Amino acid sequence: MIEILPIFTNSPLRNFTYLVYSNRSGEAYAIDPFDAKSILTHSKQLGVKIRGILNTHEHGDHTQGNLELKEETKAIVYGHSNAKDKIPGIDQMLKEGDIAFSVEQESLVVWDTPGHTFSHLSFVHRNPKTILGIFSGDTLFNVGVGNCFRGGDPNALYETIQSRFETLPDSCLLYPGHDYWENNLKFAEHVDPKNGFREEYKSTLGPFQVSEMGAEKKLNPFFRRKTSSVGNRLRELKEPISDDRSVFLTLRRMRDNW
Ligand SMILES: [Fe+2]
Repeated sequence: MIEILPIFTNSPLRNFTYLVYSNRSGEAYAIDPFDAKSILTHSKQLGVKIRGILNTHEHGDHTQGNLELKEETKAIVYGHSNAKDKIPGIDQMLKEGDIAFSVEQESLVVWDTPGHTFSHLSFVHRNPKTILGIFSGDTLFNVGVGNCFRGGDPNALYETIQSRFETLPDSCLLYPGHDYWENNLKFAEHVDPKNGFREEYKSTLGPFQVSEMGAEKKLNPFFRRKTSSVGNRLRELKEPISDDRSVFLTLRRMRDNW
């Protein structure tokens, strides 16, 4: 099976790198390397060899460890073809449906998930029966979604969230590119004040909690567009909302200025 180690870097950006690996073959892949030295330390402790670097997208805080890690391990660097001129050390392009890594019955399948940028991939951890987890980069966070300031578009993000992330099974684990729990929960309180589940969930929250999509669907205001808690609150704030998309776009704009 595919094992997963989250590596948190204590920078203001609160980045996560993930090491995905197989104990049996000793092979590993680093998703979005931030601090190469700490990734190397962890891979040595695990006794695995890093064969590849998987970049969800081109932003520097997701690729800054590429060159040092490549130099040290000779790993192959993978990313979206639209970002081939922006990802340091890129060797190979990935596209929708590619298999980035597989171990026995499990694999990491590539999804093309535009919105945060137009060169954004997500990596879906699955077995033949179901989706076990998703590495969402800066597309979906705990209780929030990515911004669209640097090369993205909120309409494309809406399509991606609505057509792909909302279809994930409730048991699917979410592995985002940053730990934004705290700020996103505060924003959720602001726009979704009558969500009792959130208050209940907060009391069980541990540090760097890995959540399931089932909980996210009940926590994340960007998933709760059709609830009266969100709708009434936006009307109370005199936000112009009409259809489902407009609620998403309004929430994204409010989060940008919050
Ligand atoms: Fe980003």
